[in-house]
Amino acid sequence: MFSLQGKIVIITGASQGIGESIANVLAEQGAQVIAVARNEANLKRTVERIQQAGGSAESLVGDIAEPEEAKRIVDTVVQKFGTLHCLVNNAGITKDKLMIQMKPEEWDIVLNTNLRGPFLMMQAATRPMMKQRWGRFVNIASVVGQMGNAGQANYVSAKSGLLGLTKTVARELGSRNITCNAIAPGYIESAMTQNLSDAMTADFIKHIPLERLGRASDVAHAVAFLCSEEASYITGQTLGVNGGMFMA
Ligand SMILES: NC(=O)c1ccc[n+]([C@@H]2O[C@H](COP(=O)([O-])OP(=O)(O)OC[C@H]3O[C@@H](n4cnc5c(N)ncnc54)[C@H](OP(=O)(O)O)[C@@H]3O)[C@@H](O)[C@H]2O)c1
Repeated sequence: MFSLQGKIVIITGASQGIGESIANVLAEQGAQVIAVARNEANLKRTVERIQQAGGSAESLVGDIAEPEEAKRIVDTVVQKFGTLHCLVNNAGITKDKLMIQMKPEEWDIVLNTNLRGPFLMMQAATRPMMKQRWGRFVNIASVVGQMGNAGQANYVSAKSGLLGLTKTVARELGSRNITCNAIAPGYIESAMTQNLSDAMTADFIKHIPLERLGRASDVAHAVAFLCSEEASYITGQTLGVNGGMFMA
């Protein structure tokens, strides 16, 4: 796999699910992982597991949707480790409802976490990356941001917006040797999908050429690649990790 030896990496939403798997894989590849989420107890479990496996990880409690928090997270890391190489914007939430029933607060909280959060985090992280003329942003979007999905107007809008933000940041920072890419996972076995009935899961699988739901590690390996030196000529792209259910 791709070496991330010595790379200082922030992963948001790293306390469970896809984010935890990203933290595990990047630590296995030699990165110093800084795992961010709001719930301290869950984060500590992730970090302890990585350390027990021989990896380097620390927890940092914070809410990425708040401007001063995003800045504090990045500043804390730069003060402690001297720089920041990679930022993986993985934290995300859902508040699903048909558009006609959706309350403005349900719209706002999802947009604030899933779109404003990555914007704030990238804004805070840009300066240290510019200084060292090397940086990687990886934004975890979703296949529904490419296809639309009934019942997820807020979530889909945020994830589509994240794809546009990714392309814009790629254009703004390419000359500084900072890449910015998105990963659009399909249906991944996780807390977000565990409430689906067997019938719904079987129905989804009918539309997936690889005939299974994805695993968190499928996403994590794609993140490891996009963070690596080997991905240095890839920017502004959306990598679908979806078993073929959507082909851009
Ligand atoms: N699961 C899927 O099938 C799927 C498919 C496509 C895309 N995705 C995307 O993949 C990402 C991870 O999904 P998942 O299923 O692993 O989610 P998950 O299990 O619900 O985990 C979400 C993580 O984000 C953290 N988080 C939420 N709000 C936060 C905030 N304001 N500040 C800091 N951390 C916050 C949570 O911890 P705290 O609550 O402690 O803060 C948790 O660690 C999301 O962006 C999601 O949209 C998932």
